[in-house]
Amino acid sequence: MTTRPNIAVFDSGAGGLSVALEILKKLHPCILTYSADKAAFPYGLIEDSLLIERILRISKNVVENHSPDILVIACNTASTLALTQLREQLTLPIVGVVPAIKPAAKSSSGAIGLLATPATVNRNYTYSLAQEFASDKQLLSLGSNILVEQAERYLNQEEVDLNILKQELQRLFDLENHIKIDTIILACTHFPIIKELLIEVIQPRQVKWVDSGEAIARRVEYLLGTLGADISEQRYTPSQINFSCTLDSSTNIESLSKSYYSYLCKHSENPLCLGTTTALN
Ligand code: DGL
Repeated sequence: MTTRPNIAVFDSGAGGLSVALEILKKLHPCILTYSADKAAFPYGLIEDSLLIERILRISKNVVENHSPDILVIACNTASTLALTQLREQLTLPIVGVVPAIKPAAKSSSGAIGLLATPATVNRNYTYSLAQEFASDKQLLSLGSNILVEQAERYLNQEEVDLNILKQELQRLFDLENHIKIDTIILACTHFPIIKELLIEVIQPRQVKWVDSGEAIARRVEYLLGTLGADISEQRYTPSQINFSCTLDSSTNIESLSKSYYSYLCKHSENPLCLGTTTALN
């Protein structure tokens, strides 16, 4: 066990940064290794068996290279598919991010929107959560890869078309019958990144937005405590951010890690420093 908690966070692209920020808020100063499987982005459109193989292989690489105390699969699409296999094959504690259906079930209208990737909305894991926590509610689901792409663009400082976001949210509202959705679950870690834009495009309508980020940070804090990690306060020491990623032909590792690092610096309440950047196979 290192003195500072050593946490690995994994997603297909930028989405897991929304979870990383919550972890940095709670567990600063720590060592946080952010890994993105950009070569296979977006996960929401990949066939299950192929995806399981990738998630297992890359998670093992990350654990071997960075020896984290804990691995966070900051991706609903990956967690709802591969958590069991990951826990069977790796010995460290693994925290998965899954749709926040339980907290959303406090909805007072009784109609809840579930925004996720096309894969996540159709997973048995998601159906089971809905059955367990929201069987007395109307859960209206929309799988949107378009929103994932727009969030990734936003993070890479490319133009985001608000009309596209508006149309996607309208597709969700079109599923309503006589009961109005009052709560929307952001069940893809990419979506909290563009939450302010989503709030803007549905105006004047207002809903409660629910995601899993803070609960995940609390879970990581709890598990690190039980592992005996030192999570005492040293607010002025920076948290060290390492990046590792697989790359598609159009992505450059330096510019990708720069965009991801600037996003974290812009939104983190605490000082950060850049550690290593490594390419993954
Ligand atoms: N951010 C991911 C999730 O939470 C996956 C997005 C994707 O690659 O399709 O599901």
